[in-house]
Amino acid sequence: LRHEMLQNVRGMRDLMPDDVWKLRFIEGNARRLAELYGYEEVITPIIEHYELLAAKVGEETRKRMYAFVDLGGRKVALRPEFTASIARLVITRMVAAPKPIRLFSFGSLYRYDEPQLGRYREFWQANYELIGSSRPEADVEILCLTNDFLRGLGLRNYTIKVNHIGVLRGILLHEGVPEDGQNAIMQALDKKDWEGAMSLAKSLGVGDACLETLRSIIGIRGYDESTFINEVSNTIKAYPEAISALENFRRTLELSERSGLKAQLYFEAGFARGLEYYTGIIFEAYVPELDIAICGGGRYDRLVESFGGGPLPAIGVAFGVDRIMLAMEKQGISPSRPPRKRVLIIPLDCGLLAEAIKLAGMLRENGIPSEVEVMGRNLSRALSDGSRRDITHAVIIGPKEFSEGKIVFRDMRGKVQEDIRIGDLPAKICPKSSSHRS
Ligand code: HAM
Repeated sequence: LRHEMLQNVRGMRDLMPDDVWKLRFIEGNARRLAELYGYEEVITPIIEHYELLAAKVGEETRKRMYAFVDLGGRKVALRPEFTASIARLVITRMVAAPKPIRLFSFGSLYRYDEPQLGRYREFWQANYELIGSSRPEADVEILCLTNDFLRGLGLRNYTIKVNHIGVLRGILLHEGVPEDGQNAIMQALDKKDWEGAMSLAKSLGVGDACLETLRSIIGIRGYDESTFINEVSNTIKAYPEAISALENFRRTLELSERSGLKAQLYFEAGFARGLEYYTGIIFEAYVPELDIAICGGGRYDRLVESFGGGPLPAIGVAFGVDRIMLAMEKQGISPSRPPRKRVLIIPLDCGLLAEAIKLAGMLRENGIPSEVEVMGRNLSRALSDGSRRDITHAVIIGPKEFSEGKIVFRDMRGKVQEDIRIGDLPAKICPKSSSHRS
């Protein structure tokens, strides 16, 4: 095999045991949060029809999809996000389900992004979708969930950047810019290409007065909610659709404040997201140590309908697990692995191997992690290998002790050892959980 074939494919990573432990730790938190908020987990396939995934994902992500023709001639792709799959699932299997529907997913996603810190071609998300309600309390639920998740992991000083995409879309709609054109402008805004967005708007026939409005809107940002709402409100007087979107935004913000949401919000009227399905509030969270979003979400009231389902408003959020791992590292948060017992069983001669294997089986039945020395090492080398691998206890089987129904039990940390009866071993290792199975 050529040497290059042993390298990871660009953008792909191996997760080593410590990385996996951290990922599973975050996954555990995500799953507990889902339970606390009443979200049920579903597993959808990694491969879906290209058309489904491509439909509303936005140009930027669309051109970065891993798309291919399968052996049956179907055009398929690896999912770049969960939301399209969840919409499909709801339409095909949950039409009659009582609303709201709360669904949680955890898994890997694929985007042919340019690899860099926090940006990979295979990455993980914890995803939550709340389907069936268009009300501000649904928006507030997702904001609270987002805040609880980040805070629960111990992250500090994060900011949630928010906007209501209905304001920008309302202005453009009023100006007669068709949805495609709106989407193109949103893509530019998502990339913070303000000038690009303006010239696109101009080329799409947006008049001078409206261009002025857009330019002002894009400049409105800050931490203070009422200042933000007032400034936007004063700028969009000529645009009824934008006014009602802003009113909807204001109601959500007011409810979240009255409900005690304690998150640092940052308002930015020119903030758009690359995904095309958003219709209402949109948001992303950032920590000061990283300039990439650790989560993103928003309201999408017409996605299900655009797939041919009934009108079904929805809002959701996805956390970038890899980026959250990075953010935790940067903030010095390292969840400690709970200490655990780990037993190494060392037979003193080959004749006792079968006994060692049986003994390991007995301990595992008692829930005690046990490994047998499989390298044929002598006692002292087996013990030093054990210390190197965080073995907490060694069980040494010698012919003399064994013939008396005993083994040598060694505490690796205290380096003390004693002869004990084989049957007493589980209780000795785990004093509480003593032989609950006979
Ligand atoms: P998104 O903003 O595309 O939203 O992705 C959500 C999060 O996934 C990002 O904030 C980021 O943390 C992480 N992420 C995205 N791309 C990469 C990458 N290449 N490498 C590492 N992490 C990445 C969505 O996917 C929407 N489906 C969220 C949503 C759910 N909206 C409504 N419901």
